[in-house]
Amino acid sequence: MSESSLPEFSLSGKVALVTGAGRGLGQGIALSLARAGADVAVADLDPAGAEETAAQVRALGRRSLALAVDVARQDSVQAMVAKIVEGFGHLDVAVNNAGVIGIHKVGELTVEEWDRVLNVNARGVFLCCQAELEPMRAQRWGRIVNVASIAGKVGFPDLSHYCASKFAVVGFSNALAKEVAREGITVNALCPGIVGTGMWRGEQGLASRWRQAGESEAQSWERHQASLLPQGEAQTAEDMGQLAVYLACAPHVTGQAIAVDGGFSL
Ligand SMILES: NC(=O)c1ccc[n+]([C@@H]2O[C@H](COP(=O)([O-])OP(=O)(O)OC[C@H]3O[C@@H](n4cnc5c(N)ncnc54)[C@H](O)[C@@H]3O)[C@@H](O)[C@H]2O)c1
Repeated sequence: MSESSLPEFSLSGKVALVTGAGRGLGQGIALSLARAGADVAVADLDPAGAEETAAQVRALGRRSLALAVDVARQDSVQAMVAKIVEGFGHLDVAVNNAGVIGIHKVGELTVEEWDRVLNVNARGVFLCCQAELEPMRAQRWGRIVNVASIAGKVGFPDLSHYCASKFAVVGFSNALAKEVAREGITVNALCPGIVGTGMWRGEQGLASRWRQAGESEAQSWERHQASLLPQGEAQTAEDMGQLAVYLACAPHVTGQAIAVDGGFSL
C-alpha cells in the first residue's frame, strides 16, 4: 500500500462529546479523540471530574467544554447538547459512555436498584442519542458510539440488571443505526472487556467485592484477568480510545457491537 492510500484517522475540525468522561474509560476516550484532532466536550455527573478532563484536553491544544450532566434526565441531556451547539457551532461525534454497575442476585434485586442501573445505562443512552441526533441530522453527518460491555454480549451471574442494560444498549444501537443509515450518521456499540477503572478497582470495585476468602483486592484483580480473558491481561482506556477514534472516522461501519476484550467474546 502506498503512503498516500493509508487510511487517515484524523478528527481535525470535528467536535466530539464524551459522557461520563470525568474519570475512567470516558476520560481515556476523550483524550484519544483530542489527540486525533477533535475539540471535546466533557460531560459528567461529577463537575470536578469533568473540569479535570477538560483541562487535560486543553493541554493537548484542543478546545474543551466541561459540562455537568445527569444522563438519566431528559432536561439535563437536552441542555448539555444545546450548550455544545451554542459553544462550538456543531456536534459531530458522540461517545455515550456514562454508566453504573451493581452486584445483586436476582432474588435480592430491588426495583429501585433495577431502575437506578437501567435509568443511567439504557435510558441515558436513549436520551443522549435522541438529543445528539438533532444537530447531526441537520448537518447530515454524525458518529455515535454507545459504550456497552462484554456484559452486553454474555450474561454474568450477580450482574443481571447491568447485563440487561448493556444488552439494551447493543439492541438499541443496531436499531438506531438502521433508522439513520441514509442520513450520514453511523451508530455502533463499543464493548469493553475489563479495565482497571473505579468500576473494578478500589473499595467499591468489582475486584474487591468478588474477593475469595483470604484473597486481597489485588489478587482478586489478577485472578479475574487470568481466568476471564484469553489474553490473560486487562484492557486499557487507551484501547477503547483507539476504537472510538476508528469508529468516529469510519463511514461504513454501523450497527455493530465491537468488543475490545482480549478474545473473550464473539
Ligand atoms: N471498567 C470496565 O471494565 C468496563 C467494562 C465494560 C464496560 N464498561 C462501561 O464503560 C463505561 C465507563 O465505565 P468506567 O469503568 O470508566 O466507570 P467509572 O465508574 O470509572 O466512570 C463512570 C463515570 O460515569 C459518570 N456517571 C455515572 N452516572 C452518571 C450519570 N447519571 N450522568 C453522567 N455521568 C455519570 C461517573 O461520575 C464517572 O465519572 C460504563 O458505561 C461501563 O459500564 C466498563
